[in-house]
Amino acid sequence: MLKAIILIGGPLKGTRFRPLSLDLPKPLFPVAGFPIIQHHIEACQKVEGLKEILLIGFYQPSDAFKTFLSRAQQEFHISIRYLQEYTSLGTAGGLYHFRDVIQSGNPECFFVMNADVCSDFPLTEMVESHRQRAHACCTMMGTEASREQALNYGCLVENTDTHEVLHYVEKPGTFVSSIINCGVYLFSPEVFKHIATVFARHQEDLPSKDSIRLEQDIFPMLTGDSKLYVHKTQNFWSQIKSAGSAIYANRLYLALYHKTHPDRLAAPGEGMPTIKGDVYIHPSANVDSTAVLGPNVTVGANVTIGPGTRIRESIILDGASIQDHSCILHSIVGWNSTVGAWTRVEGTPSDPNPNIPFAKLDSGELFSEDGRLNPSITILGRNVTIPPEVIVLNSIVLPHKDLPHSYKNQIIL
Ligand code: GDD
Ligand code: GTP
Repeated sequence: MLKAIILIGGPLKGTRFRPLSLDLPKPLFPVAGFPIIQHHIEACQKVEGLKEILLIGFYQPSDAFKTFLSRAQQEFHISIRYLQEYTSLGTAGGLYHFRDVIQSGNPECFFVMNADVCSDFPLTEMVESHRQRAHACCTMMGTEASREQALNYGCLVENTDTHEVLHYVEKPGTFVSSIINCGVYLFSPEVFKHIATVFARHQEDLPSKDSIRLEQDIFPMLTGDSKLYVHKTQNFWSQIKSAGSAIYANRLYLALYHKTHPDRLAAPGEGMPTIKGDVYIHPSANVDSTAVLGPNVTVGANVTIGPGTRIRESIILDGASIQDHSCILHSIVGWNSTVGAWTRVEGTPSDPNPNIPFAKLDSGELFSEDGRLNPSITILGRNVTIPPEVIVLNSIVLPHKDLPHSYKNQIIL
């Protein structure tokens, strides 16, 4: 039997995702029409013998969480539970704290997945390669990054014949390797012995320290001892840190739907708007047939989209209204927001540099070193009203704002 744990973090995390994470925990933010972690759950559901999914984090269980959990339980016919840490225990501390729950039923091994990544999660392949290595304690998913960007991730050096990890450094200061840790692991229960060793050491040296991190405390200990292996993937993978990365993840998951859920992609038809490329439209949305949508557009539940509108590379969240002839490009329109007629809401794309092989998305700091707002996607928070005939460019609008006129390169508080 197998299990999966999704590390969802807590309200102190996800700050780069504001203002969208003010209303909803980031793991529940919809990408390609479904909460970020639902894509993890759907990948887990395809793994034979995987019986339980545990979400570990330090969010208070809000209504949104409870609704998500009960809906997911029903839909996926799999046990899904939330285990709440009393404080941020670190990526290994939470696992250790809930070790009895994780080990109940004697799973052969268990996945641990960071919530803030998107991928087509080659989990079954990871199980196969893990099983081939008798003494493996952990198989981690890895991918190639550019030399400069690798420094922002966990970096590992492998034995290219056996794929054993010989050396692991978390976010190194200088170049170590361009193979990075994707934040998806398959562990044998033996890992608890290693975490216990670190826990005991902390008790002696730093009794006030609750947190234990896989990346700093555990992986370096497992290297070079036939215990840690890498499963490299050539397929898509990205972090979801900033709101801009949600638009990129949206594109990747919409493209994946061609293989996994073709029924979720909007197709041309009578009464349908013009669809360009990959678009998801929630069945309850009301989209005028003269609108043009795509590529890379997600339209949420109960959204209204008027005649003559153009939407591209954007996410329109539940209940929003896009009025006649307005144009939305590279933007996220918040829940229940209204964009007036003949208005233009536009952001700057933040895609990985196409000229650098293996480039990843930059995590998107809000401000540059000289204190200027970096051009990025435009984000309208929840319940924002934009009047007709204005332009909102490269701006972030906090929730519940009624904009009086046009804005450019601003954070509207
Ligand atoms: N439950 C719980 N408790 N979850 C946590 C905690 C905690 O105390 N701290 C972090 N997490 C969760 C986050 O929600 C996220 O899903 C994941 O653990 C890792 O988050 P970070 O600690 O912010 O690390 P990172 O994203 O900068 O880097 C990690 O992921 C990269 C790949 O995306 C590292 O594992 C890197 O090595 C890796 O390359
Ligand atoms: P491509 O050459 O198709 O990649 O477009 P672009 O990137 O040069 O143009 P841009 O990103 O500005 O516009 C994207 C799409 O939105 C294009 O198909 C435009 O025709 C359409 N578009 C741009 N501005 C408006 C507008 O104000 N109103 C409407 N209805 N559509 C617009």
